[in-house]
Amino acid sequence: MKNVKDINFSEKKVIIRCDFNVPIENGKIIEDQRIEESLKTINYILEQKPGLLLIISHLGRPKGKNVPELSLEPIQRRLAELVQREVFLIKTLDELAKTREGNSEQIYLLENIRFWAEEEDADDDFARKITEGFDVYVSEAFSASHRDHSSISRVPEFVEEKCAGILFKNELDQFMKIKNPQNHPAVAIVGGAKIETKLPVIKNLEKNYEHILVGGIIANEALDQGLEFGEKVLLPTDFKPDEKSRLDIGPKTIDEFKEKIKEAKTIVWNGPLGKFEDEEYAIGTKEIIDAIVSSKATYKLAGGGESIEAIKKFSDFSKFDYVSMSGGAMLEFLAGKELPGISALN
Ligand code: ADP
Ligand code: 3PG
Ligand code: MG
Repeated sequence: MKNVKDINFSEKKVIIRCDFNVPIENGKIIEDQRIEESLKTINYILEQKPGLLLIISHLGRPKGKNVPELSLEPIQRRLAELVQREVFLIKTLDELAKTREGNSEQIYLLENIRFWAEEEDADDDFARKITEGFDVYVSEAFSASHRDHSSISRVPEFVEEKCAGILFKNELDQFMKIKNPQNHPAVAIVGGAKIETKLPVIKNLEKNYEHILVGGIIANEALDQGLEFGEKVLLPTDFKPDEKSRLDIGPKTIDEFKEKIKEAKTIVWNGPLGKFEDEEYAIGTKEIIDAIVSSKATYKLAGGGESIEAIKKFSDFSKFDYVSMSGGAMLEFLAGKELPGISALN
């Protein structure tokens, strides 16, 4: 897989697939870290004076329809501020065809790629139309690389050169480190919801990890369904407020989990251990974050939308070696699946 350093962007017509899928309320961006994290790659390419720069992203799930609340307009404004250049929003493929006469001083941002139904169909004709006249594809969207969508897996097929962006490469490198941990014991903590996505992760982690500590809704479901795990997997043994309403892990479980975390050399965490948004049920998540932060592990990684929220609430990103921008993509990677967005760059 090539990265940006392997390509000369000067005079080239470049497409960057970003993941600007950020929370927006009433037209205001609530949290823009994914945009900020893409700037390194965008600026790196701009410095080389490309012939043309087009950025593509999705936002939300408009399902092939033009949903005004999911327009990239707020992102266009924020991006223009951050790169201090004009950013033009392109709303149709006809408009896109005309941009080929544009110049390198401007950035073109294609309207929410999921407004086109062809995107989620991984349509080749659509990919061909988008790439017409472009030379290079750069993916900065590791967090969307588990989607077999046109701009992720097809567009890179129709350009001469393709590579991973700086953030993409970094995410991949960090995930490689936790897939096969160098330092043992390796401890994974998996919580949150959606057992169907997290069960394959737990199963796959059992190969290379000494302990997998499971909490949150998925632990409750595993217990209810009587799921069986190997001895590396620890489920909660007590709950808050009680056995019936299992909204948080209890003090005994917290102690058991902490003991494993204390000895760990590698730690990966995804998914809150309880309903941490309610102060009353935040103790498990908070205590586990504290234990991770104060452990002597040489590598600590966390990822997942709500997990990141919990870190912001109870600790600090800087206390981790890496906090990932990817949720679903990270889980699929850790479950050992092949991601279309990674394969497309190879
Ligand atoms: P992430 O986005 O970090 O991967 P998930 O989306 O899987 O996490 O799940 C996070 C949600 O699960 C949180 O909103 C949290 O309130 C909820 N949750 C976790 N444990 C419990 C529980 N025991 N009871 C109710 N909600 C829970
Ligand atoms: C994410 O936020 O996890 C990515 O942008 C992918 O979004 P999606 O789950 O709507 O495909
Ligand atoms: Mg979530």
